[in-house]
Amino acid sequence: MLYSLIKTVLFQLEPELAQKLTLQQLKHISGTPLEWLIRQSLPTKSVNCMGINFKNPLGLAAGLDKDGDCIDVLGAMGFGFIEVGTVTPRAQPGNDKPRLFHLVKASGLINRMGFNNRGVDNLVKNIKKANFGGVLGINIGINKDTAVEQRKEDYLICMEKVYAYAGYIAINISSPNTPGLRTLQFGEALDDLLQSIKNKQRALQVCHQKYVPVAIKIAPDMNEAELIQVADSLVRYNIDGVIATNTTIGRELVHGLDHCSQSGGLSGRPLQLRSTNLIQRLFSELQDKLPIIGVGGIDSLIAAREKMAAGAALIQIYSGFIFHGPRLIKDIISDI
Ligand SMILES: Cc1cc2nc3c(=O)[nH]c(=O)nc-3n(C[C@H](O)[C@H](O)[C@H](O)COP(=O)(O)O)c2cc1C
Repeated sequence: MLYSLIKTVLFQLEPELAQKLTLQQLKHISGTPLEWLIRQSLPTKSVNCMGINFKNPLGLAAGLDKDGDCIDVLGAMGFGFIEVGTVTPRAQPGNDKPRLFHLVKASGLINRMGFNNRGVDNLVKNIKKANFGGVLGINIGINKDTAVEQRKEDYLICMEKVYAYAGYIAINISSPNTPGLRTLQFGEALDDLLQSIKNKQRALQVCHQKYVPVAIKIAPDMNEAELIQVADSLVRYNIDGVIATNTTIGRELVHGLDHCSQSGGLSGRPLQLRSTNLIQRLFSELQDKLPIIGVGGIDSLIAAREKMAAGAALIQIYSGFIFHGPRLIKDIISDI
């Protein structure tokens, strides 16, 4: 009810400004008596995944709290886990504005943010101040101006800096908004990256005396042969989990709608089926060798159940949360 009222106002504003103001207000009420306005006590629905215990299977997807400014207040809404980031080694402004668009009639979003973030060191500072009792995933990426041959190094730098503070680390190789990034998903480039990440993980495990799982986040835009190849590489390199999916560059379901021809990644309802289909295929390829974190267009309890029926062990939301607010968390967790 409260969110429906606030949403009427927020959806009149420029979308990125609306998100920014909302996060700023949330940050202000965090830890004050006003936090009761958003706090939700939800039943525990424990899930063990990647060797970690999650109090429930629903998480916040990467991209909303890139710099980890609002971890506690988002946690108070009931998420079992929160994925912060994508962060890059150095701060960067991202693409020119406007870069976020509401496709209201389709309950979708198009974004070409381009990893705007204040850098990995700033994220770590924020994490140190947080008290979230759930699992914290940290999603890492590369700077836009990093030379192609140095890209792998960007992931390794971030891994090293976040390892001590992460429940799990998500490697983002699937944003459509950093030119060339998605090429890391295939063939030798993928194998080479996974090998380095695994080596780094082993070294950090020894150094920190703890094992932090690594999950790879993939795009929904791949053909059958590519999917089989990705699944095979993930298994061969003993990757701990796969996050499926990021946004799509496809526009089939939004033709003719306002903003449909904006470049960037499409998320929300129009992504739902494409991502569920990919999860289903991936699940049959992986045969339980590693868990899938399902994300893409979850906007109801039924959509959440569909992702889990397709093979997801955990699920995440972003666009559905923008359209429905904290109530969606309650609706899903209460009955999942
Ligand atoms: C505005 C916006 C920014 C995003 N930023 C990131 C990001 O930085 N890193 C990432 O891995 N995914 C990012 N995503 C993708 C989401 O995490 C998620 O994979 C995708 O939106 C599909 O889920 P949804 O349909 O519930 O939104 C972003 C999505 C949106 C809408």
